[in-house]
Amino acid sequence: MSRGHINPNFPRENTQKSSYEEDGSSGHKRQKTSEPNLNKEEEARNHYRDRRDIPATVSKIEGLRKFNNWIKSVLINEYTRQGFTVLDMCCGRGGDLLKFNSAKIAFYVGIDLSHESVEKAKERFDSISPKPKFEALLISGSSCDPDYTISQVVNQHYDLEYDLVSCQFAFHYIWDSEDSVRRFLYNVSEKLKPGAVFISTIPDANVVVKKLKTQSENFIFGNQYYSIKFDTDQFPKSKGEFGLKYGFYLEDSVGESIVRQEGTEIVYVSEYLVIMDKLEEIAEEYDLELVCKRNFHYFYDEYKEKYNWLLKKYLKSVSIDEDQWDIAYLYMVIVFKKKGEFKPPPKFSHADDTRATIVKMRDIDID
Ligand SMILES: C[S@@+](CC[C@H](N)C(=O)[O-])C[C@H]1O[C@@H](n2cnc3c(N)ncnc32)[C@H](O)[C@@H]1O
Repeated sequence: MSRGHINPNFPRENTQKSSYEEDGSSGHKRQKTSEPNLNKEEEARNHYRDRRDIPATVSKIEGLRKFNNWIKSVLINEYTRQGFTVLDMCCGRGGDLLKFNSAKIAFYVGIDLSHESVEKAKERFDSISPKPKFEALLISGSSCDPDYTISQVVNQHYDLEYDLVSCQFAFHYIWDSEDSVRRFLYNVSEKLKPGAVFISTIPDANVVVKKLKTQSENFIFGNQYYSIKFDTDQFPKSKGEFGLKYGFYLEDSVGESIVRQEGTEIVYVSEYLVIMDKLEEIAEEYDLELVCKRNFHYFYDEYKEKYNWLLKKYLKSVSIDEDQWDIAYLYMVIVFKKKGEFKPPPKFSHADDTRATIVKMRDIDID
């Protein structure tokens, strides 16, 4: 196996110290609003609809993509058992369907803002061979819709509780406001069984801010593959912990780079810093306790031996160079556990007649 430039001893920065100040949180009530905040969602929806579908084999960041998939596979292997019912928040094009199929789950609910992505997820489900032994309900809608909870949509079809909730590479899009985060966590926790876990991969805000403070010029930093652009490097307490926006560009994946005569223009996609202390504080209100927080570099160190067989599968023929390895350092794994004792489901599998059904969140009638 070629593990390319993955180097377990790659120099690291300290991610343990928070760069933020904290203040109190306000209570949250679910309120029905007539005008959901669609601007930010519109931006995300358009971005993922328009995204170029660059196959991993021609992408310059193929190694990073494979490495990210290794991380997700390890997480799914660690926390999923046969017979699980899974909720995949911000499921995109169903990139993790095959991983859950290998884990022999019994039911999959996926939700994504982009209807086109949900349709691609259905195509992916339909193309799995041999036929999956689990059914899939794919919801086109927001994981933090102000008017609908995920269970209100699911309840129209099924009565489900989840053994696992997953949100990969997306939770940071939700951090524009405390309301969004609370709606999201409400959805994570509402039908998550006691003792079951929520797994997620998000940017490591401490690393991002440290790079901003030490490596940026005009609040911009990056390398040959990515660029991050802030408007400021000051985050006073008065600004709070939400809506701390930055622009992100990642070659072949997020945003765009347009070559013009005058030079290259980078089109950034808005993301938000996820403030861990605040997340822990709010998650507690939804009965969720942080059980693991690991930067990708450390996560790799911890699991590279145990999941060497998966590394061989993903990184057999590609390498990850130092600049891609540096991008991996921008991310972290987080795992929350719902309070209580977990009672695993029976190792039940559906009959052969399984299918994926798409529903539109905003098409359903609720009182
Ligand atoms: C980087 S992709 C990750 C997709 C998938 N989780 C994966 O790992 O392959 C981020 C996804 O988040 C979705 N997204 C962003 N905001 C969302 C929201 N409020 N509700 C549901 N999906 C959202 C986008 O449409 C996009 O598909």
